[in-house]
Amino acid sequence: MPFAEISLIIPEVRQRLKAATTDEHSGHDWWHIHRVAATAVEIAQHEQADLQLVEVAALLHDIADWKFHGGNELAGPAAATALLTELNATPEVIDSVCQIIAGVTFKGAKVDTPMLTLEGKCVQDADRLDAIGAIGIARAFAFGGHFGRKMYDPDEAPVLHTSFEAYKKSGSHTLNHFYEKLLLLRDRMQTATGRKLAAQRHRVMVDFLKQFYAEAQMPVPSVLQEPT
Ligand code: ADP
Ligand code: NI
Repeated sequence: MPFAEISLIIPEVRQRLKAATTDEHSGHDWWHIHRVAATAVEIAQHEQADLQLVEVAALLHDIADWKFHGGNELAGPAAATALLTELNATPEVIDSVCQIIAGVTFKGAKVDTPMLTLEGKCVQDADRLDAIGAIGIARAFAFGGHFGRKMYDPDEAPVLHTSFEAYKKSGSHTLNHFYEKLLLLRDRMQTATGRKLAAQRHRVMVDFLKQFYAEAQMPVPSVLQEPT
């Protein structure tokens, strides 16, 4: 049987992922996948990347994510390979998708996560845009509640992790996640379009945090007082 075109695979991938994630409650539900795919394609249009490769990789970017598979980073590419093989994708498409989804995840404040291809940069920026702004705030607290993390504990300071292993093990409260990841994402955007979209979402998080501290009658950390 000849290999299938990506355009023919995409609707089936969408349907499978939607069916598999509608009951997800940690911020990694179908609508996260849907938003990331839409934003990734929007970025790819501006950046003149391969739209179909970007879309299929974005749809698959969280499949068998390490956060839900005992920290195993290989589960995602393995699951993507199984699905794309079943759908008769070319080996080139499977390789490109696996390379993107293996590199997409955030690994700690002091850990570099380079993306080699333009298509990978579009997917990574789109995923990170969904981690910041109003939706990012909502997802962070949904994730924290889902995994039984505290919302806020002023006695527990954030940690800027120097290895993926240390980041994986962190069980800190959700306010710390802003300092350990979310506030760092704007300056790590890999495309000009991503940078543009991230600026406003970053300000939304800073305003939210300032209001949070005001209501909690706690001092605003100096990092939030820098001009945004
Ligand atoms: P990545 O692969 O880069 O982690 P995801 O698409 O899996 O990206 O989304 C991760 C999202 O899960 C975060 O942006 C946040 O909303 C949530 N999350 C992950 N770790 C934590 C945490 N320690 N506390 C709160 N939210 C978290
Ligand atoms: Ni994601």
